[in-house]
Amino acid sequence: MSESNLKKKDLAWGSLGFDYIKTDYRFTATNRDGKWSDGELITDEIMRIHEGSPALHYAQQCFEGLKAQTAKDGSVLLFRPELNAERLHMTAERLMMPPVPRELFLKGVEETVRANYAWIPPYGSGASLYIRPLLIGVGENMGLRPAKEYDFRVIVSPVGPYYKGGGISLISLAVTEFDRAAPLGTGKFKAGANYAGGLLSTQTAKDMGANEALYLDSAQRKYLDEAGSANILLAMTGNRFVTPRSNAILPSVTRRSIMTLAKDELKMTIEERPVAIREEMAEIEEMAACGTAAVISPVGKIWIDGQWHLFYGNGEKVGPVMKRLYDSLTQIQKGEKADPFGWTTKVNIG
Ligand code: PLP
Ligand code: COI
Repeated sequence: MSESNLKKKDLAWGSLGFDYIKTDYRFTATNRDGKWSDGELITDEIMRIHEGSPALHYAQQCFEGLKAQTAKDGSVLLFRPELNAERLHMTAERLMMPPVPRELFLKGVEETVRANYAWIPPYGSGASLYIRPLLIGVGENMGLRPAKEYDFRVIVSPVGPYYKGGGISLISLAVTEFDRAAPLGTGKFKAGANYAGGLLSTQTAKDMGANEALYLDSAQRKYLDEAGSANILLAMTGNRFVTPRSNAILPSVTRRSIMTLAKDELKMTIEERPVAIREEMAEIEEMAACGTAAVISPVGKIWIDGQWHLFYGNGEKVGPVMKRLYDSLTQIQKGEKADPFGWTTKVNIG
């Protein structure tokens, strides 16, 4: 790699938000006549697509999200990228799109990260490089049918914390009048359409003074589903670590990893099951939202049925379970502690 590509950009790494920052390179591959191209790095951030593209009309579109971090020894680590490849595959099949082959997905991610080395936040800055792969249906079309052509792209942006406050700061969630996903709908897939439908809910939650919307199951509005951009974690009485099981939530890579840590390191009893929030509220000691962007964001309070319910420390303190899990997860992600599960992958910087 040339000297100029290795020299870090002059950014205020410590005060980055979760925003788009134009980096130097992006990866693009196309599916034409049913065949994927090899893909290549390009510099142009503007995509030119046909006005009839099904992605524009019928939301035949999906995406992924993962992060690259600089470790203490300067190496660049990805966190379980093969699970994102797998999830994009499942989402693509659900939306009748040709899955991006795993090798092409991983190549696109690695090449984009390597080419944008200068944009990867340094170790200790608290920031990371967010990686956003996306798959869209393009080409001339009018009727409701799958596209004949597809574009796969990987873009990256250096980011700070998703929620204001940064690091492990407390957030609040609000149950609004809107549902996110139908029981047999697309909630467990990373389809952009799920998020368009959630925008008003998020805004409503913000208007109530919360950071984000919290969704209940849409059939009965009884069980916890997830937050707008994260899964839910609960530390409950009796050393139980509970996460909602639902057919309508995204299978979070972060949540699956945290469940392993809670079992192996904290020796908690793990339960993945429907959580009847009103009936079980009194047994919840700590709540958190988790995801690639959210990491582990402890939830101090939730708004439901016209009132706030407070969790640990009157909703003003980070509880010990979520704090330990946050430390453990982020230390593995940054190569600060052993990675017994083989979750991190080193990017060859060349
Ligand atoms: N749930 C939703 C709706 C999300 O958008 C995300 C973010 O990707 C998550 C959960 C967390 O998933 P992951 O941990 O794989 O990032
Ligand atoms: C992620 O955490 O990767 C997501 O995709 C959430 C998104 C709403 C920022």
